[in-house]
Amino acid sequence: MKKVIAVVGCGRIAQNAHFPAFSQMDNIRIKYACDLVEDKAKAMKDKYPDLVENVITDYKAALADKEVDAVYVLTPNYAHYTVTMDALKAGKHVFCEKPITVNYALSCEMAKEAEKQGKILNIGVCNRYHKSVEMLEQYYREGKFGKIYHVYCSFRNFRCIPGLGGPFTDKKQSGGGVLIDWGVHFLDLIFYILGGVKIKNLTCDAYNEMAKDMKAYNYTGYGMWAEDTADIEHGVNDVDDFISGYVRTDKANISFNGAWAQNVKENDMYIDFMGDKGGARLIYGGKFTFTDGKTLESVTPEYDIPDMYLKEDNAFVESIETGVKNKGNIENVLETALLLDRLYASAEKHEEIKL
Ligand SMILES: NC(=O)c1ccc[n+]([C@@H]2O[C@H](COP(=O)([O-])OP(=O)(O)OC[C@H]3O[C@@H](n4cnc5c(N)ncnc54)[C@H](O)[C@@H]3O)[C@@H](O)[C@H]2O)c1
Repeated sequence: MKKVIAVVGCGRIAQNAHFPAFSQMDNIRIKYACDLVEDKAKAMKDKYPDLVENVITDYKAALADKEVDAVYVLTPNYAHYTVTMDALKAGKHVFCEKPITVNYALSCEMAKEAEKQGKILNIGVCNRYHKSVEMLEQYYREGKFGKIYHVYCSFRNFRCIPGLGGPFTDKKQSGGGVLIDWGVHFLDLIFYILGGVKIKNLTCDAYNEMAKDMKAYNYTGYGMWAEDTADIEHGVNDVDDFISGYVRTDKANISFNGAWAQNVKENDMYIDFMGDKGGARLIYGGKFTFTDGKTLESVTPEYDIPDMYLKEDNAFVESIETGVKNKGNIENVLETALLLDRLYASAEKHEEIKL
């Protein structure tokens, strides 16, 4: 029987990733598309008339419907906790976009509630379903890297502060800036490739430099991601636009730099895995090149990259059908949330933190 789903939040990630995936799945019904802004939910029904059954603006109507099996929480970060907790308490399985929520303590509460209710709670760690990431995870398990002793990653962009003055740059609503928005993907996929890690200690510095004066922020010609949510006139920008950190774990150590914006006209989005037998550079969202330390040959394997969101959504539905927790389950993502939380704490205190 088809699983019955309610989608809460019909913004960019819903429009660009999940609805296109849903439209390719024949084992689900989207009984409700919900958004506070009715037109956004209506736009999904207009685009997918055979898929979307009802348009609503209050998600509680979907929670009250006994037929609904699962809820997709695709809202801004600040609403992840409330909507997810309400949905779990209403007896629904939940898929919640990344980051879990704005801090680690609330993330743990969400995990506990899922356990208490006996429901599946998956997090949108889409990169765990990216073909390149899956291949590197396999390479590591097969010993191709030998010991990975260090991972370096860069998530730096020239001009990419999203929705300046809107929910992305207001710490109360987002939980942070470039680290929680982009870094979460990079650090989570590293944890995944390494087969899970335990953090030992870390240090981090966070900067808010590029749009201290929001009105003077210069992005003309380079666009602003999520510009429709920007509020330069009245909004807040109190989050990191540049971040730098060093993390020691029980496996590899990790160093990273991230920038939503910088006065260096480069976009550097990659991860380097340093192994004693082999190493790899993964271009974020793309392919990797593996270098064998013995032959000194570098190879970029040929493969297709299937839609990671479709794989992620299929995996969630399979998980609610079978009751078997998978790699997107919140239990496997909590260490990433802990990492983000401790990195921000280190940056705030200007000191190293031991766990
Ligand atoms: N996995 C990824 O690659 C990826 C990429 C982009 C964004 N995201 C995450 O997805 C989430 C949404 O980001 P976005 O860019 O789509 O934001 P967005 O602002 O475009 O969309 C969010 C939508 O949620 C709606 N909304 C807010 N509160 C609601 C409520 N209580 N009930 C119903 N609707 C509500 C808003 O009106 C808005 O339309 C964020 O948490 C973000 O971090 C993930």
